[in-house]
Amino acid sequence: QPYPLYLFQNFWCPKIHIEAIHRFQQHFQAKDNDVIVASFPKSGTIWMKALAFAISSHQSFSSFENHPLLTSNPHELVPFLEFTFGGVNHDIQNQILEPRIFGTHTPFHSLPASIKDSDCKIIYICRDPFDNFVSAWTYFNKVRPLSLPAVTKEEAFEMYCNGIVDYGPWWSHVLGFWNESVAKPNKVMFLKYEDLKDNTGFHVRKIGELLGCPFTEEDEKNGKVESIIKLCSFEKMKDLEVNKSGVVGRGRIEKKNFFRKGEKGDWVNYFSPPMVEKLSKIVAEKLGDSGLSFKKIS
Ligand code: A3P
Repeated sequence: QPYPLYLFQNFWCPKIHIEAIHRFQQHFQAKDNDVIVASFPKSGTIWMKALAFAISSHQSFSSFENHPLLTSNPHELVPFLEFTFGGVNHDIQNQILEPRIFGTHTPFHSLPASIKDSDCKIIYICRDPFDNFVSAWTYFNKVRPLSLPAVTKEEAFEMYCNGIVDYGPWWSHVLGFWNESVAKPNKVMFLKYEDLKDNTGFHVRKIGELLGCPFTEEDEKNGKVESIIKLCSFEKMKDLEVNKSGVVGRGRIEKKNFFRKGEKGDWVNYFSPPMVEKLSKIVAEKLGDSGLSFKKIS
């Protein structure tokens, strides 16, 4: 790990995030109609932010020609809680149009009580850890400051297996939201990237129901679900000018870096047999009898 990570509230985090998380824990007040898109980094957060935004506002759009997603990056439309309420301007909480939608990478156990206790909804997107690892490692080497050395696959894999990655360990993060989705299925929706890829329409409709804005027969006749799927697809989003150039967020990340391959199963191009064996074993052991499993691991 080329930059230091600190163990904060039982997860690993860079220093600047600790301060931001600490402040949002103190200042953020959830509303009952808030929508929170939660994820472990590099699990398809940007895709889910786009979908959640498009679904929750679908009643306001009969046509998708002038949709905000065509001219704004999903990270701009759906800001991260960590960096929105970093103590800079708390009034912003009341300026955002409702329903408010936020993203977060903070583990479930560290979310503020108002999120847990209110009626707000959480959509958690989880990705197969093999693809998650590849996405995170390739991403890091693209966005790292030039002053930091590139990380080899072997080094990165060792850290991943030890759980020492941003917001890690991966297994603790996913299990925190998994357990809550089992206990409160009407509050927390747990979605796998792979399932979302396989049957996007089914999940888009389910999210519409969860958020209290189901698709009507009229919407179905007008092909609204298909329009949303297309608008948020990897191919479409990747090619939009607003996602190809410029930077976003406090880290001033080049937007194009959020779109690499957008596929499931790309890990086969990177994993050696011993790597597969090692990570499969760790993940199977950590997920135990939680009921959560991934096809190739179980
Ligand atoms: P890959 O690196 O495997 O291509 P996050 O948004 O959490 O940072 O996750 C980024 C991952 O999601 C990247 O995976 C990226 O290509 C993929 N992604 C981005 N937009 C997507 C979309 N519209 N549909 C599917 N995957 C998408």
